[in-house]
Amino acid sequence: MHGHIRPVFELREGMMVGFPELDEQHRSIVAAIRELFERQQQGMELKTALDALVARVQEHTRTEEGFLLKNHVAGFKDHHMRHTTFLAGLVDLRDRAEQEGFVMAPDVAELLMEYFVAHILTVDGSYSNLAQRRALTR
Ligand SMILES: [Fe+2]
Ligand SMILES: [Fe+2]
Repeated sequence: MHGHIRPVFELREGMMVGFPELDEQHRSIVAAIRELFERQQQGMELKTALDALVARVQEHTRTEEGFLLKNHVAGFKDHHMRHTTFLAGLVDLRDRAEQEGFVMAPDVAELLMEYFVAHILTVDGSYSNLAQRRALTR
């Protein structure tokens, strides 16, 4: 899908939402996806990396949704639905990794990264923009 170009598993400048705790959680999720990618490249077991990724996304979802509700950020229902869908996909992947003979498709980590970056830039970006106009609090 991406040929021989090595994917970028980094939180770039333009992906910052401006709230340190949330940016740090985004960074830790990106690191977990990178870990998954690297372990797959090296032919290592993936269950532990998937457990860590699920845990970080669960924690981040709780924190971010609490923040959205507290600050009455518009579009909560849609945002929540997207978190739920993403998390369900990750949990399904993690559960499949527990089964005998599990093989993860080679582009999964890259697709997760693309999906997560797109979420940060568009969906999370909605509250990032709000932050510039009014002071939101955690
Ligand atoms: Fe989000
Ligand atoms: Fe987020």
